Amino acid sequence: MTAKAPLAVVVAVTTLFATLTGLGMPKPSPDLPPLGTVIAPLPEGSAKGLADGACLNCHSGDVLRQQRLTEKQWTANVTKMIGWGAEVPEDRREELVRYLGKNFGPGNAAFRPVAVRPVRANR
Ligand code: HEC
Repeated sequence: MTAKAPLAVVVAVTTLFATLTGLGMPKPSPDLPPLGTVIAPLPEGSAKGLADGACLNCHSGDVLRQQRLTEKQWTANVTKMIGWGAEVPEDRREELVRYLGKNFGPGNAAFRPVAVRPVRANR
């Protein structure tokens, strides 16, 4: 071990301690809902079941709900997601795009993000 090694160990341990104890992090507001808060479901519609099954495996519905895309843009998005593994039957693609465009089109003003308390590693 070189003479510098003990200092490196002290820095590493101090950094780890500060990270684990959340030292220096702002205190979360007690008004925020706790972790485990259920985020809003996708809206009703003929393709809701399809969207629930094909689009919520990798991310929450909020990723969809916050969009303001035209049907053309949704077509491109659905094609991209299918390329990444979303399972959408070919004969229901249009129906899904219509559902997404109708609910999360350019005029979509319904989305409100859910704020939750940050998670601490030491809780
Ligand atoms: C195999 C995993 C997976 C599935 C299934 C999936 N997505 Fe995604 N999606 C991702 C990832 C990863 C990102 C973030 C990538 C990025 O930064 O662009 C993303 C991002 C998005 C975005 C944000 C904009 C964008 O393009 O990045 C939208 C909108 C979206 N997905 C819609 C959908 C829809 C609609 C479906 C169902 C048809 C779906 N996703 C299914 C993985 C998936």
